[in-house]
Amino acid sequence: MENTNSVQFFSGENIPLEMHKVRMVQRLHLPTVEDRLRAMQAAGNNTFLLRNRDVYLDMLTDSGVNAMSEAQYAAMMMADDSYAGSETFFRLSDALHEFFGKDYFLPAHQGRAAENIIASAFVKPGDITPMNYHFTTTKALITRMGGTVVEVFSEDALDSSVIKPFKGDLNMEKLEACVQAAGASKISFVRIEAGTNLIGGQPVSLQNMRAVSKFCRAKGIPLVFDASLLADNLFFIKTRDAECADKTLGAIVHELSELMDIIYFSARKLGCARGGGIVTSDKALYEAMREFVPLFEGFLTYGGMSVREMEAMAVGLRETLDLEVINQTPMFIAALGEALQQKGVPVVTPFGGLGCHVDASRFVEHIPQSQYPAGALGAAIYLAGGIRGMERGTLSEQRRPDGSETFSEMELVRLAVPKRVFTLSQIKFVADRVGWLYENRNLIGGLTFEEEPSTLRFFFGRLRPIGDWQEKLAAKFLADMPNGL
Ligand SMILES: Cc1ncc(COP(=O)(O)O)c(C=O)c1O
Repeated sequence: MENTNSVQFFSGENIPLEMHKVRMVQRLHLPTVEDRLRAMQAAGNNTFLLRNRDVYLDMLTDSGVNAMSEAQYAAMMMADDSYAGSETFFRLSDALHEFFGKDYFLPAHQGRAAENIIASAFVKPGDITPMNYHFTTTKALITRMGGTVVEVFSEDALDSSVIKPFKGDLNMEKLEACVQAAGASKISFVRIEAGTNLIGGQPVSLQNMRAVSKFCRAKGIPLVFDASLLADNLFFIKTRDAECADKTLGAIVHELSELMDIIYFSARKLGCARGGGIVTSDKALYEAMREFVPLFEGFLTYGGMSVREMEAMAVGLRETLDLEVINQTPMFIAALGEALQQKGVPVVTPFGGLGCHVDASRFVEHIPQSQYPAGALGAAIYLAGGIRGMERGTLSEQRRPDGSETFSEMELVRLAVPKRVFTLSQIKFVADRVGWLYENRNLIGGLTFEEEPSTLRFFFGRLRPIGDWQEKLAAKFLADMPNGL
């Protein structure tokens, strides 16, 4: 584990010590396994459809649920509410300029709204968009404009057991071959996703960003950087890349930012607020995107965001440059990953950002991909502990135009670790319940669709278990934990 705590334990124990204290709390409730079974079935076996009151630990995502600092809350009180020309906009623009060093800022209400603007401005029918890996909304929005996403991930990126420091890197040979085959004029842009959401939160190296940027500039292809998961990626660049050990986090961000033509982000993740935006220093690119902001989002000085959130974002971005702030999530993920590994549970290694990723294809080997192993495991983890994770596998894919399934290259259940939200005992509880489930994994069965939306089906599709495996799993839980908790 990359323990970057400045305080070490005399005992030598490797414990991720919190560099914050909790000053506002939310009461939690752990339903019994009988209630969990009822809630899961009412939610169509889709963790997105659970009600929060039925969830003990919400590890669905870090999006918009990171803990905010007192300075962020204080800044929210100073927001300047006006439709046009708000001072809040200029304060946020300044903070973004300081953070990324880019000249222009276009606000958007969240990450996918920024993606919608970029896809609307630059993707034409028949275009190809190469990237290290797709994100669900990114792919859907590019496909909607008639483009095709081509993934050029690095060797071993999809092998959850291979340990390499930067498994999010783009494979340069695959990128060159893709551009060669399509012709540079058919490439809308190349996209690098920091902290690769769907393949285990694996980071991209600065060296790889340099190589991709050099290639794109030589070919005249814009390079777009999705910085939504930059905080974790930054932590890994700082701690895994010897060249960056002595650089400040701010200097690293500026260095990588200079390599990119357009940077966008979900501020539900980066900056621990709720919103998003796009920055660039290229006036022509800025002007090509600008018209879509009032069309889709709102006026240019708020872009669909609340001014309070914009103020919180400005402060949150500055706090992202503090290693003791951004180390909390990766260190807790590593603590969870190590505890799970000790119980034999297969997890994505090396431990990445965003969450601990359980490898469903190895956990429930007996469930075929057509029965959604990661979805089934996600439902089972909820039954085992009231823990809400997120399926990141075949359910999160779209069917092909002919209706056939796109089997995902990885079948993962992501147990997100939102920034500074959980305590270490809660993390240990998760390891305990997932460990129990692993011992009883043969009881877990597959799922089948009852209602399947045609787009982004994982959000509100409903499924039912194949057979009565959930009742059997709940009965085994009660035999082992008679109070049902
Ligand atoms: C890498 C990445 N890009 C884009 C998005 C979309 O952001 P939002 O949820 O704010 O629309 C996300 C959200 O999870 C993400 O992880």
